[in-house]
Amino acid sequence: MNPYEKGIGYRYLFETKYYPDRPLVDDLGRLTYPPLFKIYPNAPRIDLPKELQIPKVTLAEVIAARRSQRHFRNEPLTLKELTFLLWASQGITSPQGYRTAPSAGALYPIETYLSVQNIKDIPAGIYHFNVRDFSLERLKEGNFASALTEMALGQSMVRKAAVVFIWTAVILRSMSKYRNRAIRYIFLDAGHICQNLLLATTALGLGACPIGAFYDEEIDRLLGVDSHTEMTIYLAAVGRV
Ligand SMILES: Cc1cc2nc3c(=O)[nH]c(=O)nc-3n(C[C@H](O)[C@H](O)[C@H](O)COP(=O)(O)O)c2cc1C
Repeated sequence: MNPYEKGIGYRYLFETKYYPDRPLVDDLGRLTYPPLFKIYPNAPRIDLPKELQIPKVTLAEVIAARRSQRHFRNEPLTLKELTFLLWASQGITSPQGYRTAPSAGALYPIETYLSVQNIKDIPAGIYHFNVRDFSLERLKEGNFASALTEMALGQSMVRKAAVVFIWTAVILRSMSKYRNRAIRYIFLDAGHICQNLLLATTALGLGACPIGAFYDEEIDRLLGVDSHTEMTIYLAAVGRV
């Protein structure tokens, strides 16, 4: 056995493969489905404009142009731009509730939070994207750019970003159905969401960079999530280039 095969990463992959002749057995017991939407009913709310600012570039142009950008100008984004990014990454686009990005079993385990650092007409703070109502819920007021930079291992693009998207996973939404294999799907879901965001930023002429390196539980604390049922899994810094 190669040493890496003993590690938790390899074991996870191996033990969550589907085989035609083997049921996936686990000892997780009965799992219950948490609600599909997370809502902060007492948070101050900003309704997002329903009319979207649709860029005119073609899909091929956007795919060809996308590049990770880590240097941002100190200029605000508009609410319309931010709205398009939220819609592109997690907007509801069907009467059944399906969204712009696919999700295994349509269970939508990913929640979107924002560190708003330089958006015109929105006070700096930590916000939650209420997908159902297409609004932002303010969880904390203040500019957390410096604190978040430290939490992202000092990566300076975070400080200069106009907004940082922070994605958490409500793991039981997926695990209730897919058990241990759900963790694979959760990260695949997040990848789809982030790619939609990256393409949308490119289409608007903005810059963005995905970020996988951060102190997980420090960001959880910033958001006020418990690190057990819900935890931070991915970030993206967005700004004007
Ligand atoms: C899962 C993931 C995590 C990443 N994490 C970071 C990061 O923490 N810091 C960073 O500067 N870039 C990060 N990147 C960006 C990659 O470095 C970048 O995508 C790669 O160099 C290819 O360049 P391109 O995106 O311009 O095509 C990440 C990308 C992905 C997909």
